[in-house]
Amino acid sequence: MCGIVGAIRNQGPVLAGLVEGLRVLEYRGYDSAGVAVSDEGKIKSAKRQGRLDNLEARLTDSSLENGVAGIGHTRWATHGPPSDENAHPHLGASGCVALVHNGIIENWAELKGELLADGVRFVSDTDTEVLAHLIDRERADASDLSDAVRRALRRVSGYYALAVLAETGDGPELVCARQGPPLAVAFVDDAAYLASDVLGILPHTREISFLEDGDVAVLRPGDVQITDFGGKSVVRPAQAIDWDPEDTGKGGWPHYMLKEIHEQPDVLARTIQGRIDDEAADVVFEDGAFANDAVRDVARIQVIACGTALHAGYIARYLIEGLGGVPVDVDYASEFRYRGPRIVPGTMALAISQSGETADTLAATRLARELGASVGAICNVAGSSQVRESDHVILTHAGPEIGVASTKAFTAQVAAVTLLAVRLGRARGTLSKEDASAILNELKLLRTRIESMLGEHAVDHVRRVAQSHAEQRGFLFLGRGINYPVALEGALKLKEISYMHAEGYPAGEMKHGPIALIDPGMTIVSVSSTGPLAEKVRANIEQVKARGGVVLSVGSDPESHAIAGQSLEVPASSEWLSPILNTVPLQLLSYAIADMRGCDIDKPRNLAKSVTVE
Ligand code: M6R
Repeated sequence: MCGIVGAIRNQGPVLAGLVEGLRVLEYRGYDSAGVAVSDEGKIKSAKRQGRLDNLEARLTDSSLENGVAGIGHTRWATHGPPSDENAHPHLGASGCVALVHNGIIENWAELKGELLADGVRFVSDTDTEVLAHLIDRERADASDLSDAVRRALRRVSGYYALAVLAETGDGPELVCARQGPPLAVAFVDDAAYLASDVLGILPHTREISFLEDGDVAVLRPGDVQITDFGGKSVVRPAQAIDWDPEDTGKGGWPHYMLKEIHEQPDVLARTIQGRIDDEAADVVFEDGAFANDAVRDVARIQVIACGTALHAGYIARYLIEGLGGVPVDVDYASEFRYRGPRIVPGTMALAISQSGETADTLAATRLARELGASVGAICNVAGSSQVRESDHVILTHAGPEIGVASTKAFTAQVAAVTLLAVRLGRARGTLSKEDASAILNELKLLRTRIESMLGEHAVDHVRRVAQSHAEQRGFLFLGRGINYPVALEGALKLKEISYMHAEGYPAGEMKHGPIALIDPGMTIVSVSSTGPLAEKVRANIEQVKARGGVVLSVGSDPESHAIAGQSLEVPASSEWLSPILNTVPLQLLSYAIADMRGCDIDKPRNLAKSVTVE
């Protein structure tokens, strides 16, 4: 999705910092980029279709380098194709207002008609340009830029995060506003910053405030003032973000995805750190989240999530029903919000989201609350909308995830879900002290077990196996029970970064249709089980082999591996923890295949890291 940065300083140019900020936000996905600065009483802008490098090439001969205030944008096309003209910033008719915008202005056509009738000339196909002209026009009657922005926004329906730069003749003004997509602000002694993602501000400060819907912020060097759309002052206290800006680099790895796969031993140790009470064989979350009073009477949990986070949600169903004794429903957020869901009394909605800003997940969780549910969240980003809007929060502590394909965030979500299931089981008396202890001990062993799967020898083996499948026509990932969602995740990972067709299926469903796909051009990746379903998985592998199919067995069941003839081995563990372990070789397999096929692994085509619009 689009990215926004902005800065205003007492002195010294902002251009390099803006471009650096856009570079950090590249991971979100974009198809054009642009900047505007205010310099010597004028707004100067440059924008280019394609990667940020194209924009930087254009900036070498530009006169933008002296501006002390500016805004920047990476665009992911919605209204109008990717082009230089449609890239942001857009200028108002006076040339003294520049605007960057994430989101959609729904009544843009009506507003555009009005502006055209006033003689305004448009140079792009975007909804954003309409808003730039509207703000520019409102300046005539407004006391300052923030007043003009508020007046314009009263005319607008839709959702947006926007930043506006204006030149008054007496110096620049910088204002931002939020209704929907995220926006954060911060200040230091001689500057103030805004960005659509904390990563855009982290190089300057870790003390960051998050705007809420309906907020308008005025940025001045060393100061940020926030009001609501009516102009009434509001306070959004700064939160200390504990991410290290250094973590946003590749640290010598060829891709963020590979770096993040290898971070998993540390990440999982962080997810459980300080949360296990060995003596009570229980789990204690920060801020009293999911404490006895809140969870004893929960009648049902409604998991809401998208993509990879949804797969963590499917695993949550097995864990929470199995250990915590609470019935669980799991829904795609985009389906939940439009299917007229019924919420029984005592329901807790559980949102799972890496970013905490996924539009569908947020909207579905808000709906669940309106319908009477309490709200819990498992999330990676402190201060995100999902975190702020939830009654009970488990932060996954996975650190910044830059690769578009989610890896460490997923395994951390599953670890957090395991902690939650133990907490529920202990609070509700469905899990004995001995059983809880056994699972908590297995959680502690994850670090070393995953380290062993990420050693040089093991990774080389995955690569060799990947080589024999890189030219296949397609893949069918099969799993049973708690490892069925692992099959879904394995298929999603492969398709999103290698563009190969891959489907995930419950292994028991194979004979109801997918078995027709089996031929030598189709690889069947079978995720093994070690529990009561192990025998059934072996039988599924036999069925595939009997039809001349190619099977790759992943997991810790030697018998499955022997029948398949080719395997990626995983250390033995309790069945409850096997989804985390089984996921790791599947991540490596997808990575290796995508790499062999020359794909843009960290920025797969058409994908955005954080989907903040519907
Ligand atoms: O930030 P979220 O966890 O809410 O994002 C949900 C999905 O958009 C995300 O998991 C997506 O499916 C990734 N591309 C998966 O790799």
